[in-house]
Amino acid sequence: STVRHYKFNVVMKNTSRLCSAKPIVTVNGRFPGPTLYAREDDTVLVKVVNHVKYNISIHWHGIRQLRTGWADGPAYITQCPIQPGQNYIYNFTITGQRGTLLWHAHILWLRATVHGGIVILPKRGVPYPFPKPDNEVVVILGEWWKSDTEAVINEALKSGLAPNVSDAHTINGHPGPLSNCTSQGGFKLSVENGKTYMLRIINAALNEELFFKIAGHKLTVVEVDATYVKPFKIDTIVIAPGQTTNVLVTANQGSGKYMVAASPFMDAPIAVDNITATATLHYSGTLANSPTTFTSTPPQNATPIANNFIDSLRSLNSKKYPAKVPRTVGHSLFFTIGLGINPCPTCKAGNGSRVVAGINNVTFVMPTTALLQAHFFKTKGVFTTDFPGNPPFAFNYTGTTPASLQTTNGTKVYRLSYNATVQLVLQDTGIIAPENHPIHLHGFNFFAIGKGLGNYNPKKDPKKFNLIDPVERNTIGVPAGGWVAIRFQADNPGVWFMHCHLEVHTTWGLKMAFLVDNGKGPNESLLPPPKDLPKC
Ligand code: C2O
Repeated sequence: STVRHYKFNVVMKNTSRLCSAKPIVTVNGRFPGPTLYAREDDTVLVKVVNHVKYNISIHWHGIRQLRTGWADGPAYITQCPIQPGQNYIYNFTITGQRGTLLWHAHILWLRATVHGGIVILPKRGVPYPFPKPDNEVVVILGEWWKSDTEAVINEALKSGLAPNVSDAHTINGHPGPLSNCTSQGGFKLSVENGKTYMLRIINAALNEELFFKIAGHKLTVVEVDATYVKPFKIDTIVIAPGQTTNVLVTANQGSGKYMVAASPFMDAPIAVDNITATATLHYSGTLANSPTTFTSTPPQNATPIANNFIDSLRSLNSKKYPAKVPRTVGHSLFFTIGLGINPCPTCKAGNGSRVVAGINNVTFVMPTTALLQAHFFKTKGVFTTDFPGNPPFAFNYTGTTPASLQTTNGTKVYRLSYNATVQLVLQDTGIIAPENHPIHLHGFNFFAIGKGLGNYNPKKDPKKFNLIDPVERNTIGVPAGGWVAIRFQADNPGVWFMHCHLEVHTTWGLKMAFLVDNGKGPNESLLPPPKDLPKC
């Protein structure tokens, strides 16, 4: 194993997309930001220097951070933000993981432009459990607003209404040749006939799950969220914000240009958004002006196409990479997740009320100092440990006449003892409307053991759980009007955020944290904070 040093200068950069320019927050002046490369078992040190007027923090999405919660990154959860002019070194070791992940800003809406890929190669000499591709390419999907994204969210918070949807989706930073600003072209994926490419696809969009496909080419899925899956071939994948998917593509069409496309997926769309980002797969020897083979992406609400992909995902579960699904359940938790309404006399629109979101009826209130610091130094009054393991009362969660459920505000965490096994059912609610929620858990991978539509039935549904080879991941799409069940082992001491990875829902309060107690053995307790940990 090696120690790898990176320097992330957070700087403003005037950037032009959709034929207009605006200053954006970037790492090292790049959008998307630089890819971080490491091998399994390496230690990574990233010095983040804040040169902008915003507070910043960076999250290494999907990195387990075993005992290194101080390096996880969510602002006010594991650290105070890095203030303007300050810096902080994120120091973590990559243990038992290989594959594709992403890093992104974890404060306000800055991750719209502050994000990049993480590529974790297997240990030296260890092959992939699939044929070695001839080449590898990181493909980052994103969103672009013509106006400043912080302004977009601040306006929404003031009005109490939903923020504007983005003006474009992007593939490696570009809306692509079919956008309404064609002069900027788009990302070009250069291939040679007969060769196989591994695309490391990352969804870094703020608010959109996305379909992804390539005209004339099948995708062989081999990995999601840095865990290997049983390979399968498919035309279209779906990927939620925070998720990653590695696919193999064989360039077997001889020559030509083929459209690469990404467009929104939403089960029950509230806002129509059909903007497609495009890029070009380009065979070597093909003339630049030759026509591109077109493909259309599925309609926004094409749930069967999404499910076709999601239901095909299985852990590789080989001898070398076994699926270690917890067999026993120490904590059986049932969390309702969804939208709600709270009074807001100061909101300019919305008739004195605002849209909020919550888990088990709790709208999470961000603290003003980091929870992990408060926990470690035993600071009183920052959070309470009464996060409910069940909703306050049972109702028809996915009913068409939703219960009127005003949420309560609080900075509540749910306490787990070290190594406890957890089964968590995430139930979408129809309060206001059913919506997709990609839920991300920090600090752990979990197994997605079950999924269904309607209300979860604790008598019948567990009989259908897959405890053999369920997919292992860190971000899971809860279907609109349905539920998913996950299991994980709380083998990582610290405070771990869990939230919807649609930034608009996080902003509205769809978040909570697990507190895993300091144990007594050497692996069970958190290490002391680094000296340069930012102060609030
Ligand atoms: Cu990728 Cu807490 O986020």
